[in-house]
Amino acid sequence: MLNIENLTKKFYKGTVNEFTAIDGINLHAAPGEFITIIGSNGAGKSTLMNSIAGVYAIDGGKITLDGTEISRMPEHRRARNIGRVFQDPLKGTAFDMTIEENLSIAYNKTRSRGFQAGISKADRALFKDKVSMLSMGLEDRMKEKVKLLSGGQRQALTLFMAVIAKPVLLLLDEHTAALDPAAAKKVLEMTDFFAEDERMVTMMITHNMKNALEHGTRTILMKEGKTVMDIRGAERENMTVEKLVEKFEIDNDRMLL
Ligand SMILES: Nc1ncnc2c1ncn2[C@@H]1O[C@H](COP(=O)(O)OP(=O)(O)O)[C@@H](O)[C@H]1O
Ligand SMILES: [Mg+2]
Repeated sequence: MLNIENLTKKFYKGTVNEFTAIDGINLHAAPGEFITIIGSNGAGKSTLMNSIAGVYAIDGGKITLDGTEISRMPEHRRARNIGRVFQDPLKGTAFDMTIEENLSIAYNKTRSRGFQAGISKADRALFKDKVSMLSMGLEDRMKEKVKLLSGGQRQALTLFMAVIAKPVLLLLDEHTAALDPAAAKKVLEMTDFFAEDERMVTMMITHNMKNALEHGTRTILMKEGKTVMDIRGAERENMTVEKLVEKFEIDNDRMLL
């Protein structure tokens, strides 16, 4: 499903400041896998996601998604198969458009005809029905502009929009970090639900090590552009935050215990 072979990404290549942000990463993930990614600030977590999504041209290696090599495919073409949610709730939605307009844009990604001006009656009913699944009361606010929503509601909607487009891969970069604890919990629960319900690969960066071990099926720890730990199954079940800190000398204040 997702195959990453010997991925390398440098910044400031060919200058005195040349710096290897991703240093030969190998990763193979099957459909349904939900990988949580931890690591100190600057470990290369976001760069890994940006390299997969095509934000940056890579300097070496090969990325294959669903049988197609995407290493050199432009970002907008990869976006058809890759859903993304970032930390900032303002980023994922068109804030001056209504909830149903936002959903329509996301949903139309799944169809070849692309963006359409109007929303059909059938789609309108479908969106309303789907949004009610979030249990946030948004189904009664479909014609309201997204800018009126709270950060948590907006992030839930962004996650939902990413999933409604039926991605093969869902990339979440600290998508609950800017939310209050209650909203973060809700969005994490939704993430669990979608990751299990859809047969996609989910990758979630988090600085909360407890969340990293309690959600998903597999946990990767990154350090200086490399994966230094990759656990699942029984090994993961026996892992604790305390053991992680001890074993990998994690000393970052931002990493939450
Ligand atoms: N666009 C960029 N240009 C130059 N350096 C970058 C860029 N993006 C990230 N870096 C550097 O690459 C390293 C990894 O960054 P990043 O992937 O954002 O880390 P993380 O998400 O794990 O905190 C850091 O040293 C960062 O400063
Ligand atoms: Mg980051």
